[in-house]
Amino acid sequence: MSDPTRGQRASSFGTRAAEYARHRPDYPRPAIEWGLSGATGTARRVLDLGAGTGKLTLGLTALGLDVTAVEPDPEMRAELERAVPSAKSLAGQAERIPLPDAAVDAVLVGQAFHWFDVPAALTEIGRVLRPGGVCVPMWNYEDESVPWVAGFTELGRDGTRRPASVEAIRELTHPAFEPFEIGRFRHAQRRTAESLVETIATYSKVIVAPPAESAALLGRLRRYLAEHPATADGEFDLPLVTTALRARRS
Ligand SMILES: C[S@@+](CC[C@H](N)C(=O)[O-])C[C@H]1O[C@@H](n2cnc3c(N)ncnc32)[C@H](O)[C@@H]1O
Repeated sequence: MSDPTRGQRASSFGTRAAEYARHRPDYPRPAIEWGLSGATGTARRVLDLGAGTGKLTLGLTALGLDVTAVEPDPEMRAELERAVPSAKSLAGQAERIPLPDAAVDAVLVGQAFHWFDVPAALTEIGRVLRPGGVCVPMWNYEDESVPWVAGFTELGRDGTRRPASVEAIRELTHPAFEPFEIGRFRHAQRRTAESLVETIATYSKVIVAPPAESAALLGRLRRYLAEHPATADGEFDLPLVTTALRARRS
């Protein structure tokens, strides 16, 4: 696919906010709990940074936590405020978080950390975390150890291998943080061929591609799912792996 700038992709999601809310997966509770348990003491005040339509925010409120969500895109934030009215929602960026120093015990980031200016964001996350608090970026990826899933994701490759980019982030160091640890958590999302194609249509590279290019890709994916016995008829489980990192604020 063509190669628009990173900035274009990072700010593209709002144009598909309703579809994003309908089709993207949520995060498994064990991944969230593993992340939070990286803090010393109790993690009760939590920030969901780059919170989008509130997929991770909802998982945090379900644990009875005091949740603030920060998201720059007004359309994404509007979906979040509808879906998770109990969370406090703020406009803001990872590189300039609208919270005072040491305001939270944990900062969680779902599927957004790779869009940040990471060194600047880590400095800001370190500022809003209390000492001993924890930073937890996490990503949902299709589980490519399953053959039909590997064939499916191969069709949409843009040259980047996503687990490799998580590994690169894991290697980062920052003076405010202890080294990152990694955890992996399997889960699944109930899909049909059409709803899985709708999910892929919310990926930034599809949103920003020229319409003919994204239509061609979605067509290839639709044909693959129609021809594969695991996905041709009705509902199926899309196997997912949540890869989470956690680093304690020193
Ligand atoms: C793929 S969505 C993830 C949304 C949500 N966290 C989730 O897990 O579904 C990426 C989100 O990051 C936001 N984003 C992009 N750049 C950002 C930045 N520099 N600071 C904070 N959020 C950012 C986008 O507006 C978008 O809502």
